[in-house]
Amino acid sequence: MKKISLRLACLFLVAAMSVRGDQTETAPRSPLITIATSHWSLSLRAGADGRLYQQPVGTPPAAGNLKRNDEFYPQAGDGYVWEPALQVVHADGNTSTALLYEGLSQTNESADVTGTRIRLHDPAYPFNVTLCFRAHAAEDVVEQWVEIRHQESRAVTLQRMASTALLFGNNLYLTHFFGDWAKEMLSPITEKLTPGTKVLDSKLGVRADQFSNPSFILSLNGRSTETSGQVLAGSLAWSGSYQCEFDDNGGGIRALCGVNPFASAYHLPPGQVFTTPRMIWVWSGQGLGDMSRKLHHWARDFGLRDGHKTRDVLLNNWEATGFDFDFNRIAGLFAPARAIGTEIFLLDDGWFGNAHPRVNDHAGLGDWQPNRQRLPDGLAPLAAAAAKEDLRFGIWMEPEMVNPASDLFAQHPDWVIRQPKRDLELQRNQLVLDLTRPAVQAFEWQSIKNILSVPGISFAKWDCNRYLTQPGSGWLATDRQSHLWIDYVTALYALMDKTAKKFPDTELMLCSGGGGRVDYGALPHFHEFWPSDNTDPTLRVPMQWDYSYFFPCMAISSHVTHWGNRPLHFACSVAMSARFGMDLDLNKLPATDRDICAGAIAAYKQIRDVTQLGDLYRLENPHDTYRGALDFVSPDRSRAVVFAFQLQAGAPLPVRPQGLDPLKHYTIHELNPAPGRAALPDEGRTVSGEVLMRDGLVPSCANAVEASVIELGS
Ligand code: DGJ
Repeated sequence: MKKISLRLACLFLVAAMSVRGDQTETAPRSPLITIATSHWSLSLRAGADGRLYQQPVGTPPAAGNLKRNDEFYPQAGDGYVWEPALQVVHADGNTSTALLYEGLSQTNESADVTGTRIRLHDPAYPFNVTLCFRAHAAEDVVEQWVEIRHQESRAVTLQRMASTALLFGNNLYLTHFFGDWAKEMLSPITEKLTPGTKVLDSKLGVRADQFSNPSFILSLNGRSTETSGQVLAGSLAWSGSYQCEFDDNGGGIRALCGVNPFASAYHLPPGQVFTTPRMIWVWSGQGLGDMSRKLHHWARDFGLRDGHKTRDVLLNNWEATGFDFDFNRIAGLFAPARAIGTEIFLLDDGWFGNAHPRVNDHAGLGDWQPNRQRLPDGLAPLAAAAAKEDLRFGIWMEPEMVNPASDLFAQHPDWVIRQPKRDLELQRNQLVLDLTRPAVQAFEWQSIKNILSVPGISFAKWDCNRYLTQPGSGWLATDRQSHLWIDYVTALYALMDKTAKKFPDTELMLCSGGGGRVDYGALPHFHEFWPSDNTDPTLRVPMQWDYSYFFPCMAISSHVTHWGNRPLHFACSVAMSARFGMDLDLNKLPATDRDICAGAIAAYKQIRDVTQLGDLYRLENPHDTYRGALDFVSPDRSRAVVFAFQLQAGAPLPVRPQGLDPLKHYTIHELNPAPGRAALPDEGRTVSGEVLMRDGLVPSCANAVEASVIELGS
């Protein structure tokens, strides 16, 4: 029975197909399948050949036949000659896959969220692929991922398995972000895609980013602005090696994103499911501002932890003390911290290791016992001393790493990721533990539990200060070495998930030697991320602007430090526009500077519900002009906060806020004005939203490295 229908299907297939030029065409067959949000939809249809086709994003529905170029999730080896989404070697060695449409199911997961699963199968093999989507109507966000399973006689090898392979028309502009340590996201590049393949990728293994970020923006029909243009932003939820390809073959442009196929062939046994990372897409027909606000709304609900809870003001000691501290030096910061209004203290690197004390970055990683000389009675008394000053207490950890100078390495030299017969290559004097090994998983979990169970700890910074350069596992079989890239990240997520569940009241900061891990793969287990070790506020203005395309400001840690030696009022104002923290030795700060910080913290507490939970409007792009400006508007539009950051000398032109209620009246008040500066010309005036948005406000800053933070209250 099965054989007969297969033969019939083949005859039908030949009859239905015709070849024109270099493109096979086929007639449409199934009804239109739509993955729809409020303002965007993805239209798919099976052809008479059984394959699934997509109407390219941004193009009108085509009349007539479907073209092979427009296949939705194309597979290698059976006619598709461009960049495939899926490339498989079947158990019998066949290198071709042909996926035909089998059926679909759609479920309303909530009033706003629709789940869609489209089932595809290969008629020649018991090999199935499910294309999965979760569409968030109001936010215009579509999460997309793919599940692959089979019942072949042996493992099949997945050589490429993209999470998404969306097809677009021509005239597409790509904005992507390049950088390096201390320069993360600082170089946005917008370019028109041209024939050929543009690749953004990383091969770092334990983080997605150091150079090229897995979040990007596609603008349809020309460049977009903050307030105009059709844009689709994408962000791959994966903290390992990734690849995003933009393949323009002349007949359209395909955006393929997923785990990097580089060296990552995956042998999938029968009966198991391979689930790709999620791709997050967000659409706007009204430019970049609307796009970000919708993505921020989604992120508060689904992309990070406790997205509707404001964050406390944090004091960190890394920039202030580095490795040079003991109990008394740290405890001595608590009273001044409390006096200026901070709410959490975060103890950074350097608190552990005994046989190999962590007094610099050469030793101690892996030995997670408090250093007895620095902290004779461990961490608990420090947390208790913080609590006495009404401060919460947080701790730094880097559970995935080991220094060769450590007890752990002496006991388990085989636990590290390394290549046999090669000299160990250290980065920052350290190695990565092989998280695919069950004993390492158990060790890291135990270390995390021990640290976070110390009474009084309610915050942790999870760091990762190197990437893979010698990707060999002593645990994985010789013919499974290529699994390391994927199995590491999967095990990491399991560890992060367990941590978040076991310690639901402990806030977590995601950090990776600066901003190496800023992605929606890890972030759902965390409350915030560390964007960069570079805290020079003049660079943080453009950097935070770029991160804000994809991530809500409540998740972007921004600390006041002495980097760049900028005026403290400017540094405080920049930190106030994101998730405010400080990294200063308060005991060395002159009284005037302490007052500026205290003023900023008091002001920040007054407005943080607006900046963290409200809507962001990016007003003046600091990459383009002498100034950066933003405003945040509360959900009910009764309050707003305007930030102006003067980077270079320039005319004191008005800043025009957006997003206000034109009919409401707002009273203008500058928060924490810089000492000695003339008051705002409009201080105390009450003006309608309409007039404010039309005429703007002249901020008090007029010289380089000055800032102005203005509250609009009604
Ligand atoms: C890198 C981080 O980005 C810094 O903030 C700090 O925590 C150091 N690691 C500590 O080693």
